[in-house]
Amino acid sequence: MTRRIILDVDTGSDDAVAVMLAALNPAIDLMAVCTVKGNQPLDNTTENTKKVLDLVHSDIPLYRGCKEPLVRNAAPWQVQFEDRATVVDEEGKKHFIHEDFDMLPASDRKIEDTPAPVFYSEYFKNKPEVSTSIVCVGPLTNLATALSINPDIVSNIEELVIMGGGDDESNATSSSEFNFFFDPEAAQKVFQAGFKKMTIIPLDCTHKAMVTKDDCKRFEEIGTPAALFAKEMCKKRIEVHTQRQPLTLPDACALHDPVCIAYLIDETVLTDVRFLHIDCSLSGLTYGQMVTDHRYFQDNRNAHIAYNGDRRKFVDIMCEAFKLNY
Ligand code: BDR
Ligand code: CA
Repeated sequence: MTRRIILDVDTGSDDAVAVMLAALNPAIDLMAVCTVKGNQPLDNTTENTKKVLDLVHSDIPLYRGCKEPLVRNAAPWQVQFEDRATVVDEEGKKHFIHEDFDMLPASDRKIEDTPAPVFYSEYFKNKPEVSTSIVCVGPLTNLATALSINPDIVSNIEELVIMGGGDDESNATSSSEFNFFFDPEAAQKVFQAGFKKMTIIPLDCTHKAMVTKDDCKRFEEIGTPAALFAKEMCKKRIEVHTQRQPLTLPDACALHDPVCIAYLIDETVLTDVRFLHIDCSLSGLTYGQMVTDHRYFQDNRNAHIAYNGDRRKFVDIMCEAFKLNY
């Protein structure tokens, strides 16, 4: 079954792979891409996204979204993030995990005039003729703003798929994950909005759905522009993970965002999916933490949360899609 989606990104190394996978796999009908501030300022995430769409020859519309989170400007904290997500190579050169894509040609792709939250509001004002889902792999600012413009859109969205949060895992603070920490007020608004189906892919899952150096060799053998770009992104991520956040396999990285797309292609990529109540903390040390209620008697469940992922299926799905690039 084909899934029609709108993809919301803060491109970003792993966002780039999500964009390529969504654009290339025929099981995904990509309607639009929206950009938001997160891994980089909005201008940079938008430029990076334009270049990646060019790489896979996609002509789908691109919408610019929010320049700042709803409440708190995370810029001072962002500096620390860049410091922690940076590695030094053999030549002493510093690499940030989410750099500008200077290695790709500049893009003259047009950006739509409508801001992303207004686009969401207009697209979902009425039930779309073909059921459409939203996939958010950056901070949730665009969607939360759309919900402020028109809260009724929730009933016209088939499914909301989110990369974010962590139950046993965190990467921004001791208890929070980057996307939710970057705009916790937006995350809380989205969680409480009453979506028909909300699927969360947190770090608990993405840290298990790893990509290894051997998988990078497979990308290299495929040799298409998408495969080679994915290989470059993973190589850098493997360095950062090895030096800063080792996973359970050696020479491996998490490639968070494309797991959301892989799930829409083959839902068995996600394993150990639990239907729970979630919220987002807005206070003190736990600011930005995904709060999950595991109590048996909880009757206000709002999210399907993946706690594990099949990394081999995930990598196979990416390989199949990259072969379709030319
Ligand atoms: C998430 O944060 C970003 O840095 C990545 O692109 C991913 O969406 C992982 O915590
Ligand atoms: Ca992202």
